[in-house]
Amino acid sequence: MCCSIIGIISSKNVVAPALVDSLKRMEYRGYDSVGVATLATTNRISVRKGIGKVNQVNSSLNLTEMEGFVGIGHSRWATHGGVTDYNAHPHPCCTEDIAVVHNGIIENYLPLKEELVKKGHRFRSETDTEVIAHLLEDHYNASRDIKAAMLETVSQLEGSYAFVAMFANGSLACARLDEPLVIGVSDNAYYASSDVLGFLQYTDQAMFLDNRDIAIIDRDGAHIFTFAGEPVTRGVTKVAWELADVNKGEFAHYTIKEIFEQRTSVKAATYQEEHKIKVFCDTIAAAGNIIVTGSGTSYHTSLITSMAGCRALKKRFEPVMASEFKYNMDSIDKDTVVLAISQSGETADVLSATKLARAAGAKILSIVNVSTSSLARAADVSLAINSGPEIGVAATKSFTGQVSLAYSVLDRISGGRIGFDRDAVSDKITKMLAGSAAIERLVNVTMPKVNDIYLLGRSIHFPIALEGALKMKELAYVHAEGIAAGELKHGPLALMDKNAVVFVLNPDDKTYGDTLSSAHEVKTRGAKIIGISNVSNDIYDAMIEIPKMENELLYPLVEVIPLQLFSYYLALRNNVDPDFPRNLAKSVTVK
Ligand code: AGP
Repeated sequence: MCCSIIGIISSKNVVAPALVDSLKRMEYRGYDSVGVATLATTNRISVRKGIGKVNQVNSSLNLTEMEGFVGIGHSRWATHGGVTDYNAHPHPCCTEDIAVVHNGIIENYLPLKEELVKKGHRFRSETDTEVIAHLLEDHYNASRDIKAAMLETVSQLEGSYAFVAMFANGSLACARLDEPLVIGVSDNAYYASSDVLGFLQYTDQAMFLDNRDIAIIDRDGAHIFTFAGEPVTRGVTKVAWELADVNKGEFAHYTIKEIFEQRTSVKAATYQEEHKIKVFCDTIAAAGNIIVTGSGTSYHTSLITSMAGCRALKKRFEPVMASEFKYNMDSIDKDTVVLAISQSGETADVLSATKLARAAGAKILSIVNVSTSSLARAADVSLAINSGPEIGVAATKSFTGQVSLAYSVLDRISGGRIGFDRDAVSDKITKMLAGSAAIERLVNVTMPKVNDIYLLGRSIHFPIALEGALKMKELAYVHAEGIAAGELKHGPLALMDKNAVVFVLNPDDKTYGDTLSSAHEVKTRGAKIIGISNVSNDIYDAMIEIPKMENELLYPLVEVIPLQLFSYYLALRNNVDPDFPRNLAKSVTVK
């Protein structure tokens, strides 16, 4: 599960309002159910939890009114156990002297649970998480020592996890293994959170726990040690992000705000420290073979980067979907460079791909948006796209930021073969965004109610057909399919009839003629065609005009804008919350 977890211990304030506020800021990580536990002055742990989003659960259970200077909170994206009140976190142990919130998957929870049940433990939920609470109870009862109980417990857990446990003596104990966990430090409080956004409103001082770190936080401070029990120190870093970046401002949703931020984010992506981008480019230039990997939208960037890399550098770039990486390892060796692309830098499939590649001797480069993420810290060199926090689950500004950075890197190595000019691209995107009202009208007036939308494209336009389809799926819950236009006759043409709506990505480059024939093929079957092009044609029932680009490789940066807008307005028409689509989470931290 990719949930958000938060723990706060304060010497000054009751923590419940802050816990709820933190969960709201991290809600994009998962939003099936929510819960809070605090330690009341009576040293009794009280738990309140329910199904729904933070505001809903808070208004029905008055989470912000819970008392106590220590507390933990959780918003869930379910994997193990249905979306129910009793499966919501926090999970207490039998005596309720310990309560736990967790992100990740405990793969061996069933055998552990059987053992604990044999010992008389009573389970209240179907979750994997609850075993952590009972294991801690078991070991703590034996040793009355939180450190010993944590070391015993993590030695038994298999899988990926970050958890925060609250003990009735007022301590918080947390541990991480392949899931993000960061400690926030302020004058009068400590925060243990999945994400810096969980405490950015209180402090920009962060301590990033390494994998296999445990932290025990009590009134005397944070004590960190490894899973082997060795004390370690972790430096405090100033987080670069401004709190203001996570407010919607005058926009109705984060998604539309972030779509409009592309006017500037495509430029920000190219502001890089000289020494870092030099090493990054030299590593690519010297590489024997280059594999580009990512998931979802970041995989679409990998496709575009590979195609542009081959063309600009005349060397082989191989795009590999991160979830398929482990089945495509044969060509990886010490001459291989793996370029891993990820907005969050926490996607489990991407992290495991880089781990496997490194074990096979490859060098790891990464392009991320979250510069403090696990992937940024795992790479030999990592460049950040500086897009600022992306809260909307659907990736928008991060996509054009990734492509802009990849292009400026390739231009630097090839002496400008792509011709990426950040100011020119930003101007063209600004013009596209100025036409958003026309897209809204297209959705609300021209567009019939359809269940199936197809997007056709060739060459560099095919990844945009895939990306547009992904946005329509996750934002508007419409079945949309990106199709390589040349593959139409080999099957998908059977789907074309008068109910089909087909976007044709067809600017006047070397793909123009062939793609126009594809448009004729679907038109003769009665489909409605929406052209995305810089040249008009009668074949289109409706057309979205895009600017002419000097180099065809640059078209993705303008073609995607109307598809993002179209998906957003279609979501509104379908009464879907564009920021928090059902069943999805912003960073998928499980395989
Ligand atoms: C895209 O809109 C989705 N949110 C999803 O496909 C996303 O791109 C994917 O999960 C990868 O995330 P990452 O870039 O943070 O690794």
